[in-house]
Amino acid sequence: MVHYEIEGGHRLEGECRIQGSKNAVLPMMAAALLQRGTVILHNCPRILDVFCMIRILEHLGCRVDWDGHTLLIDAYELRGCAVPREEAKKMRSSVILLGALLGRRRRAVLCCPGGCVIGERPIDLHLAALSSMGAEICQEEEDICVETGGLHGARICLRFPSVGATENILLGAVLADGETVIRNAAREPEIMELCRLLRQMGAKIAGDGTARICVQGVRKLHGTEITVMPDRIVAGTYLLAAAGCGGSLYLPEAPVRQLACLRRLYACWGMTWREKGGSLYVQSAGDYPAVRYVETRPYPGFPTDLQSPLAAVLLKAKGESCIRETIFESRFRAAEEFRKLGADVQIAGQLCRIRGREKLRGAVLDAYELRGGAALIVAGLMAEGASVVRDEGFLERGYEHIVEDLRGAGAALTCRRSLPTAAK
Ligand code: EPZ
Repeated sequence: MVHYEIEGGHRLEGECRIQGSKNAVLPMMAAALLQRGTVILHNCPRILDVFCMIRILEHLGCRVDWDGHTLLIDAYELRGCAVPREEAKKMRSSVILLGALLGRRRRAVLCCPGGCVIGERPIDLHLAALSSMGAEICQEEEDICVETGGLHGARICLRFPSVGATENILLGAVLADGETVIRNAAREPEIMELCRLLRQMGAKIAGDGTARICVQGVRKLHGTEITVMPDRIVAGTYLLAAAGCGGSLYLPEAPVRQLACLRRLYACWGMTWREKGGSLYVQSAGDYPAVRYVETRPYPGFPTDLQSPLAAVLLKAKGESCIRETIFESRFRAAEEFRKLGADVQIAGQLCRIRGREKLRGAVLDAYELRGGAALIVAGLMAEGASVVRDEGFLERGYEHIVEDLRGAGAALTCRRSLPTAAK
């Protein structure tokens, strides 16, 4: 258990370096399985989900080494094609190994990744797409076994622009026989990063970043090295903390083009947002109007992963705000914790209504998932007095050093570990 101890009520002043993107690097690590050489990933975040993916790759026969924040994945020798159950259960995104293992080994065994507090998170779109590419799918109790005599191209139209399903299809299509066309594909920057890596490995892909992606299968891929982009959700979390606490924040390397939704919010709040090349400087007076209505949408809409941190900021906005969560069925868990700070939050289904309060008072809060946990830290920084966020390791799944980062921006924040979290 990690206790984040916060002395709230202070403005933020300082700068933060943004880590590499968790949601970009995980599919890139899976892509390394598709070739028999070495893939080198620079700016790789040292977070629990990456450590979990490393254990899976090593179980499958890869040699994986760290050199600072550079990860070297040698996938020459693979053995087996079963994803270890205890690791798969820890991380939803283990499901994208299906496409990579089908592409390399023509077989994969994966236990049904569990749902979690943000929603059921089924994988029907993944399985339907891989099946249309020639994968035979059978479910043996909790295990999903997929195999193929060789994947072939297909024309796939996704009912929903699922990020993971788009990634799985790409990982299966790059070595498939023929052309694959994905319609209603996810347009997230993480999809474009994966395609950037795959093209450097020799894949033929066009249209990434749009809703229609075309892949021409090739016979072989090779190793390469690449630098992972900054994490737009980590950057967005810190920018929202600066807005809510007041003060100024400088990000020397920020994914500014991917944060247009926050730039618009800063403009509504009358706050400074100054981009210069890839750096970003923001300033907030700490008082701002409510946001009448915002809904989470697939990229380039407002990201669901910033919904809870935004809700935290709106706890002190002047007036009534309303957030509709349209991506996951139950992603307002943090909103219930906000009430312990004295916030006025009403939840009705997918709608969260927040009446801003002038003051919040510190409290003991419990994290139940990754982004909700980060939102509790933002809210604690905005509340007067002491707060504690109790966390069973959710935050370290996605934030490499949230304490050091926010302390670098002037936050009074420490963390105390009462039990060891997962092995590094
Ligand atoms: C990715 O999850 C991200 N995770 C999530 O970030 C992010 O919130 C999500 O995309 C949406 O942007 C990683 O990239 C590792 P989806 P993913 O498939 O791929 C439904 C974080 O905190 N759906 O786009 O699982 C699903 O239930 C995490 O970093 C199906 O119905 O998201 C959900 O309602 C949280 N059937 C919606 O689509 C399927 O087969 C979006 O899911 C697949 C998805």
